[in-house]
Amino acid sequence: MKNNPGSGQVGINIAKSDDKAVKYVFIETFGCQMNVGDSERMVSLLADSDFIETEDPKKADLIILNTCSVRDKAEQKVYSSAGRYRELKTEKPELILGISGCVAQQGGEGLLKRMPYVDMVVGTHNVHKISAIVSQIRGGGKRRSTTEMYDGFSPDEYALNADSYKNKIKFFVSIMRGCNNFCTYCIVPYVRGREVSRSLADIEKEVNALAGAGTKEITLIGQNVNSYVGEVSFPGLIKRICLIGGIERVRFVTSHPKDISEELIYLYGEEEKLVKSLHLPLQSGSDKVLGRMGRGYTSGSYMAKINLLKKLYPDMAITTDIIVAFPGEDESDFAATMNIVKEVEFDGIFSFKYSVRPGTKAEEFTADHIEPDIAKKRLSTLQELQKEIGKRKSRALVGTDQMVLVEGRSKADASELTGRTPCNRVVNFSTKNIVAGDIASISIVGAYANSLRGECL
Ligand code: SAH
Ligand code: SF4
Ligand code: F3S
Repeated sequence: MKNNPGSGQVGINIAKSDDKAVKYVFIETFGCQMNVGDSERMVSLLADSDFIETEDPKKADLIILNTCSVRDKAEQKVYSSAGRYRELKTEKPELILGISGCVAQQGGEGLLKRMPYVDMVVGTHNVHKISAIVSQIRGGGKRRSTTEMYDGFSPDEYALNADSYKNKIKFFVSIMRGCNNFCTYCIVPYVRGREVSRSLADIEKEVNALAGAGTKEITLIGQNVNSYVGEVSFPGLIKRICLIGGIERVRFVTSHPKDISEELIYLYGEEEKLVKSLHLPLQSGSDKVLGRMGRGYTSGSYMAKINLLKKLYPDMAITTDIIVAFPGEDESDFAATMNIVKEVEFDGIFSFKYSVRPGTKAEEFTADHIEPDIAKKRLSTLQELQKEIGKRKSRALVGTDQMVLVEGRSKADASELTGRTPCNRVVNFSTKNIVAGDIASISIVGAYANSLRGECL
């Protein structure tokens, strides 16, 4: 499975002993944690129809582009990727090409018309039907688009093949889907539907199966995990997951600043397994812009939460998302964002230029549109500042000891191991005494742009 930058998840390898009917699937994943989770599910479900995952699209009998439509650029990438895979179909006409994810949800039948070489379009609520859809097409069925949306989960929606849990040091577990917030710029509520939470029993069952198969780290995922409503609250759910033996680390993504409760903030101090790392998207430091975005918090209430977190947990890693050049953002609004970035010193920022999304409220804010050259300049000013902060923060880790969850061999150098600190920083190091799945104390001896160098104590 190819993951595009930002999606940060390891590939999936499902071993099969019987290779007489082996077929290969290649999945290219764009976008957020929800798509990464959905790609994992598709690989697992397709294993039941004898598909093995490959990293090589040329070898594939089935190619799926799991797409993102959060920004115009993300959407354009899909069309260029699909065009590349189209050429493979000339050499191998039986190759099936599918589009899933948020562009699929939005484009539906229109994508089949626009791209006559695409065989199937699978919407965000229909991932669990993947095997049935593929079998139908393989059996000579018509090209099809499946994009119905549902208010709840169907009982089998998360039922995975037991084999797919094996050899996963870390795994994304969906606890909810959809979003009710309708921030004025955002397409997500339209392509993922309204919020619906998975039952506690179902989530626990999945995490127990993962723990039994050796998984050490669970990331609870949803567009807005703090809005989880089940038999327990979101902090209650974390407590239950932390009780599961074998699971060593628990993370979650994404949280909305307006919904992060004091109970959740204090939970970091009570649950050792809950790692001290939080992604809390700010979007803008200007109250005027936040108001127009419909975010439901102010820069002051955001900072009050950050200050409490920093006071309680000085080592906590905090990351964020920022949009620059939202319609109407003037120099003083942008300066307010820069000030918060300087004050918080985030461990990482995902920063974007505002991109108009069809059908959203902000599409109407055309009169306040920001010129592209100004948007570009603001983005690079912000990114330069963050680069400096990032370097400083990485260097500050040199000389510390970090508990690293070992994930396996480093991709760049197979003689080395790679793992992550509780704050999710990549550490590469050499040793013979530990294996994937171990948590080891590693002394940090060097800091690079995207990773740390360590020595095993
Ligand atoms: N649910 C999360 C965000 C999901 S979308 C939250 O509310 O924080 C991921 C990120 O994409 C957002 O945080 C935002 O920074 C960015 N984004 C969303 N819509 C965008 C748009 N129209 N233009 C530019 N960036 C956008
Ligand atoms: Fe989009 Fe806002 Fe929902 Fe996040 S909270 S997914 S930014 S609408
Ligand atoms: Fe993109 Fe869909 Fe996620 S639009 S950010 S893949 S919910």
